[in-house]
Amino acid sequence: MARICYETALKSNCFYLVDIGSGLGHLSRMLSYGYGFKVCTFEADTSLCVIAKELDNKFEKALKSKSLLHKSTFKTVHVNKRIEPDFQIEDFVKLMKEAFNDSNKNFKFGIVGLHPCGNLGSTLLRLYNECPNATFINISSCCYMKLTLQPSLIAGFPLSNYCKDKNFNLTYLSCEIACHAIENYVERLKTPQNYNMLKIHAYRAALEKIMISLDENLKHSAVCSVKYDESLSFKKYCNKALKHKEIVPSDRITSFYEEIINKTWKNVVVFYSVRLLLAPLVETIILFDRLLYAEECNSYCEILPAFDCNISPRNHVLSARKK
Ligand SMILES: C[S@@+](CC[C@H](N)C(=O)[O-])C[C@H]1O[C@@H](n2cnc3c(N)ncnc32)[C@H](O)[C@@H]1O
Repeated sequence: MARICYETALKSNCFYLVDIGSGLGHLSRMLSYGYGFKVCTFEADTSLCVIAKELDNKFEKALKSKSLLHKSTFKTVHVNKRIEPDFQIEDFVKLMKEAFNDSNKNFKFGIVGLHPCGNLGSTLLRLYNECPNATFINISSCCYMKLTLQPSLIAGFPLSNYCKDKNFNLTYLSCEIACHAIENYVERLKTPQNYNMLKIHAYRAALEKIMISLDENLKHSAVCSVKYDESLSFKKYCNKALKHKEIVPSDRITSFYEEIINKTWKNVVVFYSVRLLLAPLVETIILFDRLLYAEECNSYCEILPAFDCNISPRNHVLSARKK
């Protein structure tokens, strides 16, 4: 991602970057120390921001103690702030100018987002399009199931007039499957030992039914991830998965589902595989909508398969720069 930003920056002649949803700042360190960008980050989570600053200091110390050369001339500014979907451009530019200590009205910067979850990806694209100071953007995407899908000013899909005019819409379920890792799953289907581990999907499906039967509001709520092994009964799975929730399904319910799961879990694997087969199509629709949106706003755009998809299944970077 850092290299892609550097290539876009050379074409745009702009070496100021804002990394939004920067997490622990691994990318921002690479951009700053590796490529010499002036970087500012926005991160909603206070603790991640604190650690990012500590890691910067540690890294700088290590570079000094080893007398290693680096390209950083500007200490990265980490701002602990959530970028809301209804952000005001003027407020954003003001924050950027403060961070970079630059009062020039025509001050320019690029935007980068490495796996901005759900609506954050579409928010960054709006920011890019609506803010004249933003010259380029590079974002990979993730967590499509968190996109706002109902038509509104902050909808995460569709963004482009092309898709809006055609009344394209997606459902939660299609966006959710588009976030799964087909490459890893294909490998698991190939060997019997790994194949058996896929029984965990039937466990999760049964748990969903139980949770909804107890409380409608628990639909699609997150549970702890649990690693499958041969000795994992459905009862044990429920206890582990619900560790942070105040629900304990009765023994009667868990043994009722255990029996169904033992008879049908392979059907779940087949069903899941068919869904997963269509998942790349959904992801392509979301990415193309984003590409069209950037193009409609007079940009050069491309979608680059930038990362190893076995390590990072959401591996496409949308790169756009204004004409
Ligand atoms: C999937 S993580 C990616 C972190 C980092 N970019 C990386 O690749 O290591 C998404 C990050 O975005 C942050 N985030 C989510 N929504 C945000 C928002 N609206 N404004 C700022 N940060 C946000 C989260 O706290 C989280 O750290």
